[in-house]
Amino acid sequence: MTNDVVDVPGAGPVHRIGFGAMQLAGPGVFGPPGDRDRAARVLRRAAELGIDHIDTSDFYGPWVVNELIAEVLRPYPQNLLLATKIGAYRDHRGGWPPLVHPDALRAQVHDNLRRLHLEALDLVYLRHSAEQPGIPWEDQVGALAELREAGLVRSIGLSNVDLAQFEQARAIAPISAVQNSYNVVDRAAADLLDRTAALGVPFVPFFPLGSAFQPNSRALGDQVVRGVAERLGVVPAQVSLAWLLHRAPNTLLIPGTSSIEHLESNCAADQVKLGEADVQELDDLVAEGTTAERPL
Ligand SMILES: NC(=O)c1ccc[n+]([C@@H]2O[C@H](COP(=O)([O-])OP(=O)(O)OC[C@H]3O[C@@H](n4cnc5c(N)ncnc54)[C@H](OP(=O)(O)O)[C@@H]3O)[C@@H](O)[C@H]2O)c1
Repeated sequence: MTNDVVDVPGAGPVHRIGFGAMQLAGPGVFGPPGDRDRAARVLRRAAELGIDHIDTSDFYGPWVVNELIAEVLRPYPQNLLLATKIGAYRDHRGGWPPLVHPDALRAQVHDNLRRLHLEALDLVYLRHSAEQPGIPWEDQVGALAELREAGLVRSIGLSNVDLAQFEQARAIAPISAVQNSYNVVDRAAADLLDRTAALGVPFVPFFPLGSAFQPNSRALGDQVVRGVAERLGVVPAQVSLAWLLHRAPNTLLIPGTSSIEHLESNCAADQVKLGEADVQELDDLVAEGTTAERPL
């Protein structure tokens, strides 16, 4: 990894390549991992590689991934930023219904503190959901702002938001990061990425590789991505990640993997030098503000 870092206001600087821990739960992000020792080894290797930004949540398992992180990584390295999310729960079928009453949000922060064995959470994303019951967005952000003022949360992030929700939230509390889906073939959130870049707020694209939920992800399998990878002698995942690093100076990447080999390869993506022609081809793959219509 290079020494390229981005500051997360309130939580500190982190390298631009981190780790998304969602893939460490069982199939469908539900239940324990099939191979617990392997999942633990991935976390240990992440720490050895100097990864200082891990994206997690009580949603993953539920609870399984937070518990694994606490068990494997404690005592936490001093520079490790653990980012978590609130605003949902897992139902018995593995769904992700919203849970956004201010009391529930407070309870979720306390649950994350307990499971991660922390006294304060570095970065907590409030996950917006279109189907949430009538709890005003302002009240949800306000609840997190109070937890920040109480010292339980160092910095506030937003996830799955649109530009208007981002601006509304910014008027209530300092927003230190935005996490939305974005990758080389899914550019729907381009307006938010550009706005956060202009403000110097970190943008953390989730599904940077097109998601484990989409086995034939075009971010990994598209002809253009593969062609660039072949030309440069690297793998498609590294091309997709390198393009995200190039896209804007405020992107912080959290590729998800359950494999040490993939973890190591993803960490090396910031060594990939995309040429002008490579960037142009990848830029042209999908118009900003839109998403490729079909998987491979
Ligand atoms: N805020 C939200 O609502 C939200 C939603 C979804 C995800 N997230 C966060 O975003 C993180 C990333 O998203 P994600 O894990 O769903 O999707 P992703 O990073 O786009 O893709 C993960 C998939 O890519 C594969 N993969 C990883 N590295 C690879 C490589 N070098 N070569 C080939 N395949 C590779 C993984 O399989 P292997 O396990 O085999 O490597 C997995 O199937 C999550 O871990 C989570 O922390 C947040």
